[in-house]
Amino acid sequence: MGKTSKDKRDLYYRRAKEEGWRARSAFKLLQLNDEFNLFDGIKNVVDLCAAPGSWSQVLSQKLPEDSKIIAVDLQPMTPIDNVVTLQADITHPKTLTTILHHFNGELADFICSDGAPDITGLHDLDEYIQSQLILSALQLSICLLKPGGKFIAKIFRGKDIDLLYSQLSNLFEQVICAKPKSSRSTSLEAFVVCLGYKPLPGWKPKLDLNKSTEDFFSEIITDKEFDIPEETRKMVKFISCGDINDIDSDATYNNLDKLTLDPIQKPTAPPYKKALEMRRNGEFNRRL
Ligand SMILES: C[S@@+](CC[C@H](N)C(=O)[O-])C[C@H]1O[C@@H](n2cnc3c(N)ncnc32)[C@H](O)[C@@H]1O
Repeated sequence: MGKTSKDKRDLYYRRAKEEGWRARSAFKLLQLNDEFNLFDGIKNVVDLCAAPGSWSQVLSQKLPEDSKIIAVDLQPMTPIDNVVTLQADITHPKTLTTILHHFNGELADFICSDGAPDITGLHDLDEYIQSQLILSALQLSICLLKPGGKFIAKIFRGKDIDLLYSQLSNLFEQVICAKPKSSRSTSLEAFVVCLGYKPLPGWKPKLDLNKSTEDFFSEIITDKEFDIPEETRKMVKFISCGDINDIDSDATYNNLDKLTLDPIQKPTAPPYKKALEMRRNGEFNRRL
């Protein structure tokens, strides 16, 4: 979480630091749980794209002690009580094997993904990478979820989002698009909440390095379904969740007692780490 600019006047950002959450995203999961009781009756949980770890902190605090929580991210994560942290790529098939190994072959009750790629600034490319990340999270979930299991994932409501809703509706009893109050309304961000996983009869999903995401889904979704005409694409219920009287995530709160608060968890592998090391070793000067 940044320390300057608009962030420091955002009350969710400040509240996260005061309550010990590593990121303000913790409130998004808490508000989604308040609305959908996501944590009821779950034991094996996977938190995809989990760093710095505020969702895993929430899960670790809210679930019973005998739960198994596995957090996966490309970035290394500082340990959290009762959470197994894996530094891995969710788009790589080996990650599935590693997760199953930690569950001793059992399946998961709940999988959440708050994944976001590094933004390039090229809008079309960013939207494409984000959609691929959601499909990878869904692919893993199909291979890992128990029948009846729950899946939630961050989405950006772009022009083709109804296609994703159609695909999800083939696989879950209920699909809802939810916007927690802590998610800025000026952002296209929302979450798909998918309840009641229904594995397709006779299909044994398998991840394979030589198979693209499209190949994987083409086994269950025919070309016709991939190409659903816009007028017949599925719309899903949209729910805004969180207490109406709670903090406004879009407001800028001025006149705060203390403008900056120290971070709960310093970045483990920030992109600027190498530059700092080079400066310390005088390498910048030497190159000039
Ligand atoms: C918004 S952050 C997640 C915040 C987290 N839910 C929390 O509460 O602290 C998005 C994360 O997605 C991760 N990510 C992006 N692509 C990934 C991939 N292919 N595999 C694993 N993690 C990925 C990034 O490294 C980043 O840490």
